[in-house]
Amino acid sequence: MKILITGGDGQLGRALAAALRHHRVDAAGRDRIDITDLAAVRAAIARTVPDIVINAAAFTNVDAAQTNQAQAFRVNALGPRNLALAAASAAIPIVHVSTDYVFDGTAGRPYHEYDRPNPLSVYAASKLAGEEAVRELNPRHYVVRTAWLFAADGNNFINRMSAIGGRAPVRVADDEFGSPTYAPHLAQALAALIETGAWGTYHLAGQGGASRFELVAHAFASLGLKTEVVPVPHSEFPAAARRPSYSVLTSIQQPQILLPHWRQGVAEFAEACHTAARR
Ligand SMILES: NC(=O)c1ccc[n+]([C@@H]2O[C@H](COP(=O)([O-])OP(=O)(O)OC[C@H]3O[C@@H](n4cnc5c(N)ncnc54)[C@H](OP(=O)(O)O)[C@@H]3O)[C@@H](O)[C@H]2O)c1
Repeated sequence: MKILITGGDGQLGRALAAALRHHRVDAAGRDRIDITDLAAVRAAIARTVPDIVINAAAFTNVDAAQTNQAQAFRVNALGPRNLALAAASAAIPIVHVSTDYVFDGTAGRPYHEYDRPNPLSVYAASKLAGEEAVRELNPRHYVVRTAWLFAADGNNFINRMSAIGGRAPVRVADDEFGSPTYAPHLAQALAALIETGAWGTYHLAGQGGASRFELVAHAFASLGLKTEVVPVPHSEFPAAARRPSYSVLTSIQQPQILLPHWRQGVAEFAEACHTAARR
């Protein structure tokens, strides 16, 4: 298959290029394809003529989106709309990646694909608008919600916590729950999904829920870091954007594609960090 990836320089984009290396992959960063530019998107699709487009590009700074609403909507809503439109007019399917943050976290149980979204932040609203545009404009779509992505070389919560760690204790919220997802596991699941032709909305995230505290404590232990991790309420960290307190994802969609447990993801993450450190 010939696959065009947008957002190719991001954490997921890089994992996708690796997982799909047995295909002909063009992983384009923002410098080559700015998804907010319809003419550029159309030209890229006309030039590449891919069998499928995978959009891994997004405005992912949740707090910054609160004060950069127009840019968040440009990248997270207009961008996927441009891709869906351009792909549909060439009868090309699209994968679009979205987020657990479309939910408000009040269900008190894991969210499945048919639960009703209710975004709490500008980021979440812009991502939901992107999902809706893709569904509306390209019937051959996979809209994939994932959560709490991490990879050894990515900008993610674990790496930010270990960067501020050093010797001082790190304080982490123990009252926010989600589905930590190792980006290479998501990329492998997407590689399987695009073979199915079963268009629709999917939740693809690491199995088992965790609090942010549990995730960081387990990751630090796996990395061999001695830094103390202290559980605290999230109210200790006033943030611009509201986040769901419980957005664990589950799936009732078919075909069912299950990712490994998030603890397996942390084990592989730690191994990748150790390998990189030895180089
Ligand atoms: N990270 C998470 O915890 C998480 C959780 C749930 C869902 N997701 C979703 O998963 C997907 C992948 O996230 P990620 O963690 O890989 O994010 P990431 O590392 O921030 O990567 C996003 C990429 O998109 C690029 N980009 C931004 N604006 C663009 C534009 N106008 N045109 C083309 N590229 C553009 C960014 O480039 P610059 O660096 O130049 O801005 C960056 O390389 C996103 O859809 C995100 O919403 C992520």
